[in-house]
Amino acid sequence: MKYNSLFIVLDGGDGAGTTTHSHLLKGFLESKGFKVHLTQEPSGNKIGILLREYLKNKDIPATTDALLFAADRDLHYHGEIKNKLEEGYIVISDRYIESSIIYQSVQSEKITVDWIKKINKFVGKPNLTIILDIDPKIALARKSDKTLEKFEDLEFLNKVRHLYLTRAELEGYYIVNTDDIIELVQEKIQNIVMAKLG
Ligand code: TYD
Repeated sequence: MKYNSLFIVLDGGDGAGTTTHSHLLKGFLESKGFKVHLTQEPSGNKIGILLREYLKNKDIPATTDALLFAADRDLHYHGEIKNKLEEGYIVISDRYIESSIIYQSVQSEKITVDWIKKINKFVGKPNLTIILDIDPKIALARKSDKTLEKFEDLEFLNKVRHLYLTRAELEGYYIVNTDDIIELVQEKIQNIVMAKLG
């Protein structure tokens, strides 16, 4: 078993495949002998469960969403991610701070990137962030469950996509386009991660 802590985040617009690719990446890294802990946001704690409920409710103020996502993350990082990293796991998080920066600032003009960073300032930063990119038109058409959450709207997701790409360039994140065969997309993600692991 290899002990090699690394904090990886897969982020991106709805339907880009963060969940599918996080699972595939976990399997791949385990097959290489690494200890891997897979997690996601909203997390499994009580705030995360409340947030899943609020994703169906358009009347919740964007500021409330932002504060709850930050609280969820604080608990998630200090109660789970940090411990796993200290135990030598590779932690893969399906979404993290970048989701808040993008979604909540697109949700409301009042919400700035700086404010999101401020309310998230006590959690650890990922070592590697990979942004999965897809045209929202394709992403929404792919959805098998046609009940939509509040962010699954074409106009909103086009803004989300634009901001992910702008921020990725600014922050030097990797961008992987996911409009291709799953195996090929996953291979690109694996190559980025293996290069980082040296
Ligand atoms: P989820 O179903 O996990 O996303 P996916 O469809 O990619 O599997 O839903 C998470 C939703 O929550 C997604 O629309 C993005 C949103 N979100 C935020 O708005 N802010 C955040 O900080 C996080 C973590 C997620």
